[in-house]
Amino acid sequence: MFNRRKFLLLSLFTLVNQILSFSSFASADSRKKITKFIPNTAEAVPAIGMGTWLTFDIGHHSDEVLSRIQILKTFLEAGGSVIDSSPMYGSAEKIIGICLQNIQGNPKIFSASKVWTPLQEHGKQQIENSFRLWGLDRFSLLQVHNLVNYKEHLQTLTKLKSEKKIKYIGVTTSHGNKHSLLIDIMNNEPIDFVQFTYNITHDEAEHILLPLANRKKIAVIINRPFDGGNLFRHTKNKTVPDWAKQANINTWSEFFLKFIISHPAVTCVIPATSKIKHMQENMQSLYGTLPSQSLRLRMKEYFKTLL
Ligand SMILES: NC(=O)c1ccc[n+]([C@@H]2O[C@H](COP(=O)([O-])OP(=O)(O)OC[C@H]3O[C@@H](n4cnc5c(N)ncnc54)[C@H](OP(=O)(O)O)[C@@H]3O)[C@@H](O)[C@H]2O)c1
Repeated sequence: MFNRRKFLLLSLFTLVNQILSFSSFASADSRKKITKFIPNTAEAVPAIGMGTWLTFDIGHHSDEVLSRIQILKTFLEAGGSVIDSSPMYGSAEKIIGICLQNIQGNPKIFSASKVWTPLQEHGKQQIENSFRLWGLDRFSLLQVHNLVNYKEHLQTLTKLKSEKKIKYIGVTTSHGNKHSLLIDIMNNEPIDFVQFTYNITHDEAEHILLPLANRKKIAVIINRPFDGGNLFRHTKNKTVPDWAKQANINTWSEFFLKFIISHPAVTCVIPATSKIKHMQENMQSLYGTLPSQSLRLRMKEYFKTLL
């Protein structure tokens, strides 16, 4: 049956395609991009990626879809490539697929999704579904979300990796949860990536997780870099201190993101946003210099005075 809504949506996308022709990634920024190496392969990835929890779970409202196309386009044009999602994030994977279809120029992405179900067989179906929704025949990374049934899902992921349908495999946690199980997995399972929470106020990962990842040569993705947006509540009407500006840290977003990616064990951070302006601001952190260890300590101490 003729689906008028779908037709209107596609017409709108065609129009957007003409307006937002994906001309040139290379011309985005002439400054040197901050990249990190994945220890197992030495593949380089941009240190600022993009999360999609809540921000890309938008149902199917056409104006919202159009804005997400522009957000993703802004991210890619600014030099980003790592996109993190999950079947847990409602319509996010479907929206990513639609956005990718509607951005011209075949952008190079590092696709990272997850498997999130207690049942191994259901996990296999979930992964098939993720391939379909993203419109991919290969994922860069698949992770076991929140360590749910990680033993059986890691078997599935290992097989898919051997079949070259997935390049890397990993596991995730967040909010400081399940760290002792995570440490056990990092010590005993053949994972390429680990994902957990680390930010300027939640720095527990500095004690064991980050040094362990470094030792075991496991790449690290950091989630909740802004503590879900809460960090900005403490910086309202406050400007970045002059000593930070002298180190080329010009916004609070850059303060929080560069604090994270300057840790030597961190491979990539995945801030999420539903606003183009915030995406532009966040992507500034992909360029310039990184704070030294002494500056990182000063940043942490200073931020405590704002809490
Ligand atoms: N267990 C897991 O695997 C797990 C758990 C949690 C998260 N994650 C992943 O990590 C990603 C990031 O974590 P998160 O989404 O929880 O939190 P987050 O990235 O720390 O914070 C997102 C919030 O920050 C705001 N924000 C972003 N840029 C901003 C800016 N420049 N200025 C002011 N506000 C800004 C956003 O609001 P606006 O929309 O208004 O910009 C949004 O409300 C997730 O999206 C997801 O992909 C994974």
